[in-house]
Amino acid sequence: MQYQLNINGESRRVEAEPGTPLLWVIRDELNLTGTKFGCGVASCGACTVHFNGAPIRSCSFPVDGAAGGKIITIEGLNSGVAAAVQQAWREKDVVQCGYCQSGQIMSAVGLLSNNPSPSDSDIDNAMAGNACRCATYVRIRDAIKLASQKLEV
Ligand code: FES
Ligand code: FES
Repeated sequence: MQYQLNINGESRRVEAEPGTPLLWVIRDELNLTGTKFGCGVASCGACTVHFNGAPIRSCSFPVDGAAGGKIITIEGLNSGVAAAVQQAWREKDVVQCGYCQSGQIMSAVGLLSNNPSPSDSDIDNAMAGNACRCATYVRIRDAIKLASQKLEV
């Protein structure tokens, strides 16, 4: 079946079976491989993208539900919040192996876009679904706080 998707500001036609997870369309049909597969059951956050501005787990979001909405992947981030997050990530040297980091950044940008001055518990709640097997959690939290400070200036 054909679906018309709005992804990273472009309208793209894709062919997929109904019920196909959006993740596979993003990676295999559109070749946007910055979004990663981790668990496949909405438990790790590696596949996080934005749908109508909110983080979703694309491994568990059928392509059928994505038509008509706005999808942003890590490749399409271009807001001021995203720039602050990416800069903070570099300054705090957050990344270790990197596998989880697209999802981490998508969740962090989603948080700061709605709440530019999050408390520790706001950060914990927003990031709870993003696992990192390299345990970069402390640096992620520091980077989110740094990005928040950058957004205040
Ligand atoms: S691959 Fe989607 S949450 Fe783990
Ligand atoms: S940086 Fe390696 S899994 Fe997070």
